[in-house]
Amino acid sequence: MKKISEILQQDNFSRNDIVALLKSEGKEKQLLFEKSHETKQRFVENKVYFRGLIEFSNICRKDCLYCGIRNSNKEVLRYDLTDEEIIDAARFAYENRYGSVVLQSGEITSPNFTERINRLLDQIMKLSNNNLRVTLSCGEQTYETYEKWFNHGATRYLLRIETSNKNLYYKLHPENAAHSFEKRISCLESLKKIGYQVGTGVMIGLPFQTSENLADDLIWMQNIEVDMVGMGPYLEHEQTPLFAYRDQLLPLQTRFDLSLKMIAVLRIMMKNINIAAATAMQAIDKLGREKAIKVGANVIMPNITPGTYRDNYKLYENKPCTDEEREDCKTCLEMRIALTSNDIAYDEWGDSQHFILRKES
Ligand code: 5AD
Ligand code: FES
Repeated sequence: MKKISEILQQDNFSRNDIVALLKSEGKEKQLLFEKSHETKQRFVENKVYFRGLIEFSNICRKDCLYCGIRNSNKEVLRYDLTDEEIIDAARFAYENRYGSVVLQSGEITSPNFTERINRLLDQIMKLSNNNLRVTLSCGEQTYETYEKWFNHGATRYLLRIETSNKNLYYKLHPENAAHSFEKRISCLESLKKIGYQVGTGVMIGLPFQTSENLADDLIWMQNIEVDMVGMGPYLEHEQTPLFAYRDQLLPLQTRFDLSLKMIAVLRIMMKNINIAAATAMQAIDKLGREKAIKVGANVIMPNITPGTYRDNYKLYENKPCTDEEREDCKTCLEMRIALTSNDIAYDEWGDSQHFILRKES
């Protein structure tokens, strides 16, 4: 067995190396975190970028077995913000000097929906004189739809693969045409081809998931050359089928720790990408996102959804800050970032360095 200190001196990690890093504990784990912290400082500086997150609708046509807003969950109160409410939230982000906003929703696919996003993009570009970057996170769509949105000003897209292992994917999703692993991959390819900054990610500590699966996820991200990654712990939700496997899960604290290690290893593997400190980290540990920033994350997504709706966008239980207003969120985050000795990069777009270099080459 190689020592962790030896592995950390290498330029490239093998699958076995990554598994060893993910299993590191105590002093060895600290070595990993020191190395990832140092890598972050060197390649993406001591900065945190804010992305105002607008969860504009929880209506979803899909039935992912882990997700609280899955179509079959009849206990969820469905909502859809008005265009005005969405634009208001975007204006809040702009006026508060967040460089960008993320429009996220359940998966809705219809010509009307496509057109609606076009209109919203036009309005956001107008209110910000093209100075607010817009990221979309609205699931799987056709190439043409992605292209339209890009042409209306969206520059980034988030679509998590959830797991890069096809067998595991089908343990988390019903195996039917609406939940195809191949479709998910082809969407990511389309987004890249169109010219988006592409973000993906996985859930960590899923039932049936092994350390080898997680190592493969990181290698997969490196191979497809993603620009942005958001990943966090899987959190069971009572109103979902996957809840039946709750007895097989790693303890919450272990899932949290594993997520920190995933972020740290990825930062060392992909030095100049943007990595988000997922909100799910905070659901387990009150200082979860701050800890993620210390070991390599450089993006936080403050929730700027109007307070009245937040409680209904529960992908998992114990979602933090569902009863806050966005002003409170901002102050709270500023204090929290100060604790990590990072600077908040106000007024900056914070494009992924990886993307900028990819475009130049
Ligand atoms: N636990 C953790 N993350 C979840 N997501 C959805 N449901 C859960 C859950 N139960 C994540 C998925 C999705 C993102 C928007 O939220 O990775 O892509
Ligand atoms: Fe909505 Fe998975 S349940 S995309």
